[in-house]
Amino acid sequence: MPQHPQTPDANATAAIISGRTQIRPKIAVVLGSGFGGVASAITVDREFPYRDLPGFPVGSVTGHAGRMLVGRWHGVELVILSGRAHYYEGFDLSEATFPTRVLAALGVKTLLLTNAAGGIRRDFKVGDFMAITDHINLMGANPLRGPEAPGRNRFVDMTQVYDRELAGMMGKAAQESRVRLHQGVYIAVSGPNFETPAEIRAFAVLGADAVGMSTVPEAIVARQCGLRVAGVSCITNAAAGMGEPGETINHLDVLALAKEREAIATEFVGSFVRQVGRVA
Ligand code: HPA
Repeated sequence: MPQHPQTPDANATAAIISGRTQIRPKIAVVLGSGFGGVASAITVDREFPYRDLPGFPVGSVTGHAGRMLVGRWHGVELVILSGRAHYYEGFDLSEATFPTRVLAALGVKTLLLTNAAGGIRRDFKVGDFMAITDHINLMGANPLRGPEAPGRNRFVDMTQVYDRELAGMMGKAAQESRVRLHQGVYIAVSGPNFETPAEIRAFAVLGADAVGMSTVPEAIVARQCGLRVAGVSCITNAAAGMGEPGETINHLDVLALAKEREAIATEFVGSFVRQVGRVA
C-alpha cells in the first residue's frame, strides 16, 4: 500500500469561504494571462489571498496575483480565481488542482477556464480567441494520479469535457462583444520552455489547434467533480515556427499581448457570465 501525506480537505477550505460571505456562487472563472481584467470588473464581496486558504498553492509567476474573489457581476453571483499554480512551477498536479476541488465543494456548477495559448492553426491571428472543444493532455502527468479522492471515481469519462451548451453561449458572447472566436483543440504541455517548431508540427498532426501550459489539469478534476466546463484561450502568439521567418517567442511579449486584449477579454467573459446566469 503506498503511503501518501495527508491531502488537504476541500470541504474544510470551502467552509471557511462560505462562513465569510453570504454569496453562494454557482459559476466560477479561472483567470489566465489576458483575462486578469475580470478581477477589477466584478463587484467584490470578499477577497481571499491564496495564502489564507488552507491547501491552496501559492504561485509565483509574474502576472498571477493569487487571490480568490467572491462577488457579483451582471447580477450573477460568482467566484473568481485570479492566478493559478502551474505544473512548471514545481507543484504536483494534485496540488495545482486543489482549488478546483474547493470550487466544487463550494457548490459551483459551471467552471470557465481561461488561458493564453500559442496558435498552431494557420488561420489563427494573434489576439483571436479560441473556444476549447477538446484537449490533449501531453503534460506527462495527471491530477488524478495517487490515492482516490473520497467519493470520487478515478476513471473519469473524458468523452465530452467541454460542455456544448456552454460553447454555444460562448459563441453568443463573442458576437455580443465582437471578438473573433474560433473553436479548437488545446494541447497542454508541461513547459516552462516554449516548444520547438518540430514539436509544433507534431502537435498539428496530432490534431491540436493551440498550445499552452495550463487548464487541462483543472478540466480533468472539474469533470471528476461533475462540473460543467467551458474553456477559452487568448491566442497571444503564433506557436513556434508558425509565425514570420526568424520569429521567436518570449514570455514578456506573450504577457504584453495578453494585456492588450484584457479589456475585450473582460467584456467577452462578462457577456458569457450573463448568459450562464440566465439559465443557472
Ligand atoms: N506555447 C505554450 N504556452 C503558451 C504559448 C506557447 O506558444 N503562448 C502562451 N502560452
